[in-house]
Amino acid sequence: MCKVFHIFSLSAILISGCSNDTQSNDQNNQHMMNQNNNEGNHHMMGDSAMGNGHMSHDDVVRLEDSTGENELYIPPLLTSETTEGTEYIVKAQKGKVNIFEGVTTETLGYNGDLLGPVLQFKKGETVKIKTINELDEETTFHWHGLEVSGEADGGPHKTLSPSEEALIEFEVTQEAATLWFHPHPEGKTSEQVYKGLAGLIYIEDSNSDKLEIPKEYGKNDIPLVFQDRIFDEQGQLDYKAVMNEDGTIGDTLLVNGTVNPELTVGKEQVRLRLLNGSNARNFTFKLNTGESFVQIATDGGFLNDPLKLNEVTLTPSERAEIIIDFSQLNSTDDLSLINEDGSILLPFDVSNQEVDRTQTLGQLNDFAVTEEEKNMPVTKNIELFGMMDHVTINGKKFDSRRIDFTQKQGVTEVWEIYNRKDMMGGMIHPFHIHGTEFKILSRNGIEPEENERGWKDSIAVHPGEKVKIAVQFKHKGVYMFHCHILEHEDNGMMGQIEVK
Ligand code: C2O
Ligand code: CU
Ligand code: CU
Repeated sequence: MCKVFHIFSLSAILISGCSNDTQSNDQNNQHMMNQNNNEGNHHMMGDSAMGNGHMSHDDVVRLEDSTGENELYIPPLLTSETTEGTEYIVKAQKGKVNIFEGVTTETLGYNGDLLGPVLQFKKGETVKIKTINELDEETTFHWHGLEVSGEADGGPHKTLSPSEEALIEFEVTQEAATLWFHPHPEGKTSEQVYKGLAGLIYIEDSNSDKLEIPKEYGKNDIPLVFQDRIFDEQGQLDYKAVMNEDGTIGDTLLVNGTVNPELTVGKEQVRLRLLNGSNARNFTFKLNTGESFVQIATDGGFLNDPLKLNEVTLTPSERAEIIIDFSQLNSTDDLSLINEDGSILLPFDVSNQEVDRTQTLGQLNDFAVTEEEKNMPVTKNIELFGMMDHVTINGKKFDSRRIDFTQKQGVTEVWEIYNRKDMMGGMIHPFHIHGTEFKILSRNGIEPEENERGWKDSIAVHPGEKVKIAVQFKHKGVYMFHCHILEHEDNGMMGQIEVK
């Protein structure tokens, strides 16, 4: 804390007294209202990021560096309402948060003012969730990456009106992974997510239980939701004013809802569960020292082996779990996670205390693409095309009454996703399918990079690229597939598949 001084944070420093010690993690869990001691005017919009119409995705507004003056907020783990089985209540509600010192920002959240708690499921258990809509508008509760029936999936057909409730029930049939949840009402997803509706889901299983990896929640197993936002002069998230049809991109980073975050860690291996929860921005995460870390998981499960990397790119809705070994780094002074363009995303405050806990990471999983899957013919073709309001899938815009494809439950098919270039060259579309985790077979005919050889539910498809994926649905129902630039989704870059 208090490593970076600049004129705007002076008042906050005087008030907080800047007791430059490491915070305990209990303190992390205080409500955000109390812990964001940041004077925020320098982060609020004057004129830079908004209002200038079309923004090229190759040349996006740079995020302001995190000054590290606020300890990262760690969301609570949601606890079950009963002792028999797992029963949760998840409520979408309006909130007010002091993201900036002395400024009340109107937000949306699950069971709180902003974002949501972390839901934790165990493979094999039956989960009941009572979903409650306390907003003034329709919403849905979508479980991104969760293999459930179309009934429970919370797509745009499953809207809850204001003050309506619904009980969903499902069995957890998939392996350990970091998933997330967010709303999905037709045409309104981007705004509701932008204002704060998103949370993480952890699935654990017997494999993750026995793996020797960091698992102390909030201590060395850290949830991290990265989102870029634009605040107006009043410190508000005025979505309609800043909305860009090609995906709203902001200049201000929130991590777990914290502006200018810093994460205090021990000198030990720390597992970071990264979610790109932005509407449109891509992130390439790396350490400012250029040192490596290991990736252990993709969207839907563990990689087979820990993979040493210098950077990892996530497009909207993609996740990666990485482990940074803070006991092995050359220097832990001014260490931070940065973006590709060098902007500081998350500074670390590494405590000097050695924690004697370095574990050798062994094999993590037994993910495999079979010969049979490799040789299967393509039976579904998806063509992504366009920009701004003119985005389509196979030349069409979303129509909730039209079923675009059907597939049999439990039968694997190969989908080929093609991102057709336009005159401007086109842009990356992160393609996502509901209700399933799939395998990437090839990108332009070539086997995917090692860090994509694991379960995925969202993939970056680059302009001109053809990606083959093997898709199987374990459950039945109608599911969405779409571009996860949320403004593209709301602009109709979405289709439906019925699984029978
Ligand atoms: Cu993150 Cu349609 O989903
Ligand atoms: Cu989804
Ligand atoms: Cu798109």
